[in-house]
Amino acid sequence: MKTTRHQSSSRPAPSRELVELRVRLAEAEETLRAIHTGEVDTVVVAGKQGPQVFTLKGAEHAYRMLIESMNEGALTITADKTILYANQCFARMVKCPLEQVTGSSFRRFLSAADRATLRALLKRADKSGSKIQVRLKAGDGSQIPAHLSIRPLAKNGSKSATFGIVVTDMTETRRNEEMLRALTHRVVQVQEAERGRVALELHDNITQHLCAVLVRWQALANKLPAREKASRGEVIILSKMLGQTVDEVQRIARNLRPSVLDELGLVHALRATCTEFADRTGVSLKLACKPLTARLPAEGELALYRILQNALENVEKHARARHVTVCLRQRAFIQLTINDDGIGFDPEHHAAKRKGKGGLGLLSMRERATYVGGAFKIKSVRGAGTKIEVLIPLPPGALAVN
Ligand SMILES: Nc1ncnc2c1ncn2[C@@H]1O[C@H](COP(=O)(O)OP(=O)(O)OP(=O)(O)O)[C@@H](O)[C@H]1O
Ligand SMILES: [Mg+2]
Repeated sequence: MKTTRHQSSSRPAPSRELVELRVRLAEAEETLRAIHTGEVDTVVVAGKQGPQVFTLKGAEHAYRMLIESMNEGALTITADKTILYANQCFARMVKCPLEQVTGSSFRRFLSAADRATLRALLKRADKSGSKIQVRLKAGDGSQIPAHLSIRPLAKNGSKSATFGIVVTDMTETRRNEEMLRALTHRVVQVQEAERGRVALELHDNITQHLCAVLVRWQALANKLPAREKASRGEVIILSKMLGQTVDEVQRIARNLRPSVLDELGLVHALRATCTEFADRTGVSLKLACKPLTARLPAEGELALYRILQNALENVEKHARARHVTVCLRQRAFIQLTINDDGIGFDPEHHAAKRKGKGGLGLLSMRERATYVGGAFKIKSVRGAGTKIEVLIPLPPGALAVN
């Protein structure tokens, strides 16, 4: 068995001790090399309560080789965060030579907030392990988003707890998420522009034509002699149907271009949407919507309006609900909730299986809320309905209401 001693802290050396220090440095380097090649069985770390022995059993050599070849960072740390072992991948990730990583404190790679989170996690870490997202501070000053998966390892000979940490670099994942977010935002913008264009076409062309036809039908009905009772009745029925079609086209155009937001404000626009939904679908809808103390920026109002439209569209298409509750409240933020008592679904499962297929509704609702600095939450249980909650920050200067 080969045993080595490692000092976790050192004092500034007077010049006469320089030679001794050099020898110890060479020893330390040799130790680290030996640890990484699996030649060392035991590391002794000088701690507050005297030297502590950590064994690295020879049988673990094969595992260490495996860990060295991993694409993820791997660490073993003590309860006081001293790094007993780090693989090359971790050293590359934090842009620091491996020999400077091993033996140093893991705290140096964490922000104050992440240190506190890690401290609390290590205290209550159980066998099932825990996971956290942190931003690692690299040697060149850059920050790396990382996912830490932490597990307590069996207490070793010195009865001191050690922890195994697998560190995943999330830079690429975050970049992809940002690209996806930008793309989704673009889709929402294009969708909004396209809706505006279609609404204009409907209003300026289709509705005008339909109205012209309607006027002529009505004129025709009036011109028909009284004896042509049957034909007259038919023309009147057709005129009514045409009138309904005009109303429907206008309703679609209104929904496509929410001019009602500009004209009436958010609360009235939400009310109009809810009333129209309940009248058309027959689903009972309870609305609790108090006036706000200030108007939101146009993008915030549009986000809430579109999210409500989308959510009600989903209720109509998928939920088979009997009751819907819509609630708009002003607190430290604006909160919109939409509850239905329908069949529910599994949002996690839906997100995992969509892989580029499927609808855009939930994705665009989330994107709209995020884009205006808000949050979007969905809770749904099969057989127990769906709850959507959107939180939008208040405009500067607006009063928070309890
Ligand atoms: N309120 C709800 N009740 C039950 N299932 C729902 C509800 N809302 C969404 N879903 C489920 O989630 C899926 C995704 O909804 P999403 O709005 O993203 O897409 P979509 O409605 O299928 O299509 P699009 O909104 O693009 O027209 C739906 O297909 C449906 O299975
Ligand atoms: Mg939908």
